[in-house]
Amino acid sequence: MSHAHTAARRQRLFDRIGEGIAILPTAPEALRNRDNHHPYRFDSYFWYLTAFPEPEAVMVLLGAQGDKPGQAILFCRDKNEEREIWDGFRHGPQAAQAAFGFDAAFPIEEFDKQLPKLLGNRPALWVALGHDPEWDARIHAGLSAVRKEARSGIVVPRTIHDIRAELDAMRLIKDSHEIATMRRATAIADAGHVRAMRACRPGMAEYALEAEISHEFRSRGADGHAYPPIVAGGLNACILHYISNDKLLNDGQLVLIDAGCEVEGYAADITRTFPVNGRYSPPQRDVYSIVLAAQTAAITAIRPGASFMAPHDAALKVLTQGLVDLKLLAGSIDGLIESEAYKRFYMHRTGHWLGLDVHDAGDYKTGEAWTTLVPGMTLTVEPGLYLRPGEGVPPALAGIGIRIEDDVLVSEEGADVYTTAPKTIAEIEEVMRVS
Ligand code: GLY
Ligand code: MN
Ligand code: MN
Repeated sequence: MSHAHTAARRQRLFDRIGEGIAILPTAPEALRNRDNHHPYRFDSYFWYLTAFPEPEAVMVLLGAQGDKPGQAILFCRDKNEEREIWDGFRHGPQAAQAAFGFDAAFPIEEFDKQLPKLLGNRPALWVALGHDPEWDARIHAGLSAVRKEARSGIVVPRTIHDIRAELDAMRLIKDSHEIATMRRATAIADAGHVRAMRACRPGMAEYALEAEISHEFRSRGADGHAYPPIVAGGLNACILHYISNDKLLNDGQLVLIDAGCEVEGYAADITRTFPVNGRYSPPQRDVYSIVLAAQTAAITAIRPGASFMAPHDAALKVLTQGLVDLKLLAGSIDGLIESEAYKRFYMHRTGHWLGLDVHDAGDYKTGEAWTTLVPGMTLTVEPGLYLRPGEGVPPALAGIGIRIEDDVLVSEEGADVYTTAPKTIAEIEEVMRVS
């Protein structure tokens, strides 16, 4: 990411904090077991403002004061030949300052020592508290140290703001760089789903199909999965967070794959549900057609000025009508929606914000009012039907679980759908036939 994008985002934060100070650390490294770490993933807020990929880093913004201009400061790991031999390259403060467009950079070891000086005589502090107790303690120690200087006339910040609230509002509207990156992520995720459709055969294990997707993600340069992939054959598709992916895929079943890659920190989040043997059975067609019609209605409901709930409401009408047509529910559509009778078969929301986090930052509601869609917002559209065996569910339908999920940018014209993986019955059967 060029630092013009991150500098522009930092400028917006400078405009907000006035003479205040903003402090934001990246994520700590996470142990997996004994001395073995999870692959490192930076904090999304920190990444949004810095594009700096290393652990043990803190960004500080000092707002302009008097004739002193604002200053963006990075604390990061020093160069260390020994550690670089074992663990890999570190920028070090000097190179990082230039490469990431900071006004100053210091070794991370100096952060706690410099903190009281940085906090002194700043009217307000913008920070994220209540997330990491260790971080909270460091900030409190810094504030206490400033308070001890009060007799020499140094003032401690009077106001503490949650920096996440500001950043959530910014992250909700994607800039041009984010839009381009998310398109790239989605294109790779699309290719992964197509590869899985082509590779799928009865008798294959769910994990083998997962491997096809992972292969495509990594060989096309994605960082990996943005979230644990779901590869759910048959009834497993009715377990919403099924991630064990360890059963066999049987002839005559559907398989639901919910998988998306991460590219430069940005997530794709795509679901396709297709027949293991390449042909939808008549009951599978019936249910699939309902979910697809609901998804189309939801996407059509996306436009600037519409409510975040408009796609959900549109999908619900179609799904509920479908459940009546399938004779799984009886009654008026409005009544069944009002009583939430559909929830037995459709128990989740139709979408969520998408970005650096798969369930991305951004408010869904202000008070009682749902957020209004504006250009630059990015959300998933993912209706489904999950027909668990049970009372009133005929054997032909029992065990069918279908979700169809696309990633959509709100544009001036309406929905700009990133996802291109085959979606209609004809498209999917065609892709599976020619392979
Ligand atoms: N893959 C997570 C979700 O669809 O929300
Ligand atoms: Mn999703
Ligand atoms: Mn998903």
